[in-house]
Amino acid sequence: MQEKLEQLRSLEEKAKKGGGVQRIERQHAKKKLTARERIDLLIDPGTFEEIGMFVEHRSHDFNMEKEIYLGDGVVTGYGLVNGRLVYVFAQDFTVFGGSLSETHAEKICKIMDMAMKNGAPVIGLNDSGGARIQEGVRSLGGYADIFYRNTLASGVVPQISAIMGPCAGGAVYSPAITDFTIMVEQTSYMFVTGPNVVKTVTNEEVSSEDLGGAQTHASKSGVTHLTSANDLDCIQQLKRLLSYMPQNCRSKAPKLEYALANELRDKLNEIIPNSANQPYDIKEIIEELTDEESFYEIHKDYAENIVVGFARMAGRSIGIVANQPYSLAGVLDVNSSKKAARFVRFCDCFNIPLLVLVDVPGFLPGTDQEWNGIITNGAKLLFAFSEATVPRISVIVRKAYGGAYDVMNSKHIGADLNFAWPKAEIAVMGAKGASEIIFKNEIKNAEDPIQKLQEKEQEYSDKFAHPYRAASRGFVDEVIEPKYTREKLIKGFAMLENKVDSLPFKKHSNIPL
Ligand code: HXC
Repeated sequence: MQEKLEQLRSLEEKAKKGGGVQRIERQHAKKKLTARERIDLLIDPGTFEEIGMFVEHRSHDFNMEKEIYLGDGVVTGYGLVNGRLVYVFAQDFTVFGGSLSETHAEKICKIMDMAMKNGAPVIGLNDSGGARIQEGVRSLGGYADIFYRNTLASGVVPQISAIMGPCAGGAVYSPAITDFTIMVEQTSYMFVTGPNVVKTVTNEEVSSEDLGGAQTHASKSGVTHLTSANDLDCIQQLKRLLSYMPQNCRSKAPKLEYALANELRDKLNEIIPNSANQPYDIKEIIEELTDEESFYEIHKDYAENIVVGFARMAGRSIGIVANQPYSLAGVLDVNSSKKAARFVRFCDCFNIPLLVLVDVPGFLPGTDQEWNGIITNGAKLLFAFSEATVPRISVIVRKAYGGAYDVMNSKHIGADLNFAWPKAEIAVMGAKGASEIIFKNEIKNAEDPIQKLQEKEQEYSDKFAHPYRAASRGFVDEVIEPKYTREKLIKGFAMLENKVDSLPFKKHSNIPL
């Protein structure tokens, strides 16, 4: 028996060394942790259970049978994060550059299947040179097996991808299907084709970092939702992100202890500027409305004219979608519509109630927007809200103009509660633009057209630049003093806690992609 135990222990030791000490040192020299070090940081101490430690590749080409590393370049298993079950895979760059072989893929698929059956999130720590070049199509098949499971698991359990090294070629499509991607600055990159191919095909010279680094994908493409300064920060953010989510589509996010105190927020009465066109930071309102330090912004540097993120309201996890008057006056455009739609879909998949703060002058006009499909893309957000069956509350804090009024979680598309602040203006368009159109002739023929325009603008404002018309029709449930908003929201979300709603029978809907 002793001999057998020693054999087991020695194999375990061998597996834990991955590609060997030298390659581990190389990994550290690049300011990257190893797969096992990352798992140690992520998973609660003593709770990680590894699956498939002794898996070996089955390749015989290019003398590969002589180069066997136990585990085959990926550490897989399950454990607890803050006491809650997750499944995790961490690619080991010290073994063939973390490249994906047929067996490497099988290990990932195995834990994904378990995650779906047992209803717990999947966390992928990606650090890989892509398809195992020595294996050819078997490796490509392995990727497809993962993509397929990513798709099947979508909406069943949360899936989060951390990009902690290279992620190139078709490999990018697994993170792309998952719910959230977080990239580590400077040490990670994602692209379908790297700088060399780009140079050959388009003659552009671009570095890996500029082409597909964390900042590029956070601000330009929106491919990554979050960025992190280093591996440790990345893991800490993963844990924070998980804390807002339920385990699966049948459960609710954990509710933190919260004792109701004085929920009045006097400052809310002061934030909206007197002039309807003056910018202000919607995040100030978010901070006042939500539990202290609970707001976690997602997609911070992308489409800044809309703010999305998680927060808590009296301990309950909520998702926030808010127009941002600080950026492009808070208009809806192609990118902000896509960003918000994706976030709404996630919250709806996983029973996270939505709070929508509305201050929107409309959709952004122009050829750029039209040619880039603001029609289809704006429809994504409209569709996402319309289909969401989670509790939904809107607060119109200032402007709600035109089609954007409808889109931003209006009562008409299923919001459960719709509040407005006294300075809210709910109309087809701003008073000036409206007057110029409907009183065109009267203004043109007036003795003093400028004065006439002002008169008409005032008339239009008196009629529509307030929330009471909408309230008189029941499109707004209540006009409220801003400082009471937090209290109203807490009560509203508590009232909606057990909301049951369903969509008409269908195979699935056809969101305008
Ligand atoms: C097998 C690989 C590998 C791969 C790296 N290695 N990529 N082995 N298959 N795809 C091995 C190297 O031989 C080396 O082995 C070790 O990993 C570390 O690699 P280095 O090149 O020394 O590291 P570094 O300088 O940091 O460069 C990392 C890299 C580079 C940028 C990822 O290795 C690289 O360009 N690799 C090839 C990337 C690639 O073209 N992949 C296929 C993409 S197509 P030793 O023994 O020296 O440690 C694809 C299709 C997917 O993925 C399709 C899905 C649908």
